[in-house]
Amino acid sequence: PVLVVDFGAQYAQLIARRVREAGVYSELVPHTISAAEVAEKQPLGIVLSGGPSSVYEEGAPQFDDSIFDMGIPVLGICYGFQVMARALGGTVGNTGDREYGATDATVVGDGGAILAGQPVDQNVWMSHGDAVQKAPEGFDVLASTSVTPVAAFGSPAKKMYGVQWHPEVKHSAFGQNVLENFLHTVAGIAPEWNAGNVIAEQVARIREQVGDSLVISAMSGGVDSAVSTALVHKAIGDQLTAVFVDHGLLRKGEREQVERDYVASTGVRLITVDDADTFLGHLAGVTDPETKRKIIGREFIRTFERVQRELVEEAKASGKSVKFLVQGTLYPDVVESGGGSGTANIKSHHNVGGLPDDLDFDLIEPLRTLFKDEVREIGRELGIPEEIVSRQPFPGPGLAIRIVGEVTRDNLEILREADAIARAELTAAGLDKTIWQCPVVLLADVRSVGVQGDGRTYGHPIVLRPVSSEDAMTADWTRVPYEVLARISNKITNQVPEVNRVVLDVTSKPPGTIEWE
Ligand code: XMP
Repeated sequence: PVLVVDFGAQYAQLIARRVREAGVYSELVPHTISAAEVAEKQPLGIVLSGGPSSVYEEGAPQFDDSIFDMGIPVLGICYGFQVMARALGGTVGNTGDREYGATDATVVGDGGAILAGQPVDQNVWMSHGDAVQKAPEGFDVLASTSVTPVAAFGSPAKKMYGVQWHPEVKHSAFGQNVLENFLHTVAGIAPEWNAGNVIAEQVARIREQVGDSLVISAMSGGVDSAVSTALVHKAIGDQLTAVFVDHGLLRKGEREQVERDYVASTGVRLITVDDADTFLGHLAGVTDPETKRKIIGREFIRTFERVQRELVEEAKASGKSVKFLVQGTLYPDVVESGGGSGTANIKSHHNVGGLPDDLDFDLIEPLRTLFKDEVREIGRELGIPEEIVSRQPFPGPGLAIRIVGEVTRDNLEILREADAIARAELTAAGLDKTIWQCPVVLLADVRSVGVQGDGRTYGHPIVLRPVSSEDAMTADWTRVPYEVLARISNKITNQVPEVNRVVLDVTSKPPGTIEWE
């Protein structure tokens, strides 16, 4: 792999993704990694990320400088560029001149291997206070700006290069080209990382791990579980049983999509557990959001354990054993739980597939090294229907937390219709890429007076909550064109008689969360 060393900026994950976009497998590692640990991973190259500190500051993230003596090609970015400069004998200082945001850079000479062929004057994205004042001996200066004489340097002999700017952000006009030049030309790595290879590699690994045991997968209908399930199925066929719990809180058409389209395109053996009565029974009379979440989480586990017991018994009867459970864990989850960021528990998130720890299974997590966009790519390659592959995030507790008030069959039906209309119109308007997700919320506890047809009505409002986001940690409300909003509003109030008002949520996150409950 190529190791991306994380110096504490939020940019490291982005760098890892860009490296993979260049067709090269990357892994994130902490800056505390030792030379011995690096050697074990046998990397073909190392990229040092940016970071918020100054290299001379007390407590600044340290790096084992002997890694620079291992003969591995290195690209330093921003803070990583300065770490490199200092370790190799250059100087870094605080000139008092900061550069932040779009900056004009000038390529010096031929730009070396990383800037070769690029325009002499180009726009780059900067964010730094310190700067490299003198390049290490044997390194050529490859770019400068009006305040930073050494904005890039490199040594073809050592195969080490660095840039003060952030090539991983799209505002750096030739950023991806810098990364590709480093990976392909300097480090000599062929661009061979792609969905097809990942599938082949995972299939082999899963077969080896599983042997002739049986495997269960909790399939929620979301992208991650759909893709991980299909991948395991490709590896072991009918040794896998996927369990899909219909808790009665799904969106319109969702169950059919999974039971019919997904199964038809993947051949996965799927058991649907129809448990809506149980879930809705326990939810009757409940309006408090956290109570709703707890009930659904608890019931989901009960249902799943029941089915699992049945499958285990069935297997025993035929002399086999069920040893494994598939989970759709993604790389950001792995990285984040390793990083241990202490974010407050705002809502008790319940993942369908978020099963208790004491289940007696080994886990198969075929997406552990992948980012969301890569998971989608693999899903397409596996032939999963586009409606599932490009699906927006949908919370485990489903429509229950999009009904402010009681979760009844009637309320669910109203919300399902309104949601289906909104989704269809947003897709038709080509907004699926712009919008991260658009919860549609029924205010079952609120009524207002309206006039529909010839009569007075006393109906409920529907809230549209379109948001744009990178990771759902923060979000902004999406500026959906007025005409699209008008169409959605007209259709909902015409076709869903219980709704006489459509309102738009114009709150960012924070302060508002994405879901209403
Ligand atoms: P909030 O509402 O906290 O949502 O801003 C952030 C993201 O998480 C999703 N979400 C959930 N996903 N189980 C899930 O699997 C949950 O209980 C849950 N609650 C919120 C939400 O849809 C958004 O993408």
